[in-house]
Amino acid sequence: MKVVTTVEELRGALKEERRRGKSIGFVPTMGYLHAGHLSLVNKAKETADVVVMSIFVNPTQFGPNEDYESYPRDFERDRRLAEEAGVDVLFHPPVSEIYPGDEILRIEVTRRVDVLCGKSRPGHFDGVATVLIKLFNIVQPDYAFFGLKDAQQVAVVEGLIRTLHIPVQLVPCETVREEDGLAMSSRNVRLNPDERKEAVHLNQALDAGVRLIESGERASAVVREAVRGHLERHLRLGEIDYVDVLTYPGLEAKETIDGRTIIAVAVRFKNARLIDNKIVDVH
Ligand code: PAJ
Repeated sequence: MKVVTTVEELRGALKEERRRGKSIGFVPTMGYLHAGHLSLVNKAKETADVVVMSIFVNPTQFGPNEDYESYPRDFERDRRLAEEAGVDVLFHPPVSEIYPGDEILRIEVTRRVDVLCGKSRPGHFDGVATVLIKLFNIVQPDYAFFGLKDAQQVAVVEGLIRTLHIPVQLVPCETVREEDGLAMSSRNVRLNPDERKEAVHLNQALDAGVRLIESGERASAVVREAVRGHLERHLRLGEIDYVDVLTYPGLEAKETIDGRTIIAVAVRFKNARLIDNKIVDVH
């Protein structure tokens, strides 16, 4: 595995591969790798000839009172896990390489961000879109792999690629979970043992919502309130940030559930805000 920190080195590392007609798969991350990230690498290895992973904690997607400084980081461990997983090129740039400070434009996402995390984290998806446009231009991948754990991010990236005609194929990947159903996240390490036990209820509340839809319920409000009710009954330490039922990937609120639908929740614990979702196809 090659480890590179500059755009020039990255381009150099891929030049020969590209010339030989190899396809490039890209897995963008902020590091502190877990099995969820590594599942994206597996999918990338199945799909593309060369796998590039970036590890970059992107400052522009964190709000002023968010956890940019304290976001968990362990590059040596990440490097080992990436190598074991079969990453070919690991891109780990310093902030100054991605943001030299001479930008002349600003990216603003105007749709799919007035709900869910976009609503509770204003500007977050502007930062995500900004860094991904830069990374797509730097890596120029054929395929890019994203986890559905961050389903709103996938919806935004889908729209971004389409809107800017970026020549990359988006590959959404299933959420990887702990044995008890908790969605894997770099932020799970910040839960204390009691919070960790409680966190299982995000998944369980979502499952209760999915079961309702599968048993024929079509009123969004009924499903939303059932999921909220489950959380309210089981959370003692966590506080609900949002519960919503929307179309996917359009993320529009509709009274009646029809077509692809997302149930999404976010819960705040003392030192970590957790999100999870389920997507169901309703006919
Ligand atoms: P990060 O939170 O590190 O996640 C990197 C990728 O791993 C994302 O596509 C995310 O959806 C995926 N992922 C995280 N947990 C997962 C799980 N349990 N199962 C499956 N996939 C999972 O998302 C970001 O970084 C950043 O916003 C980024 C896209 C890198 C832009 O800065």
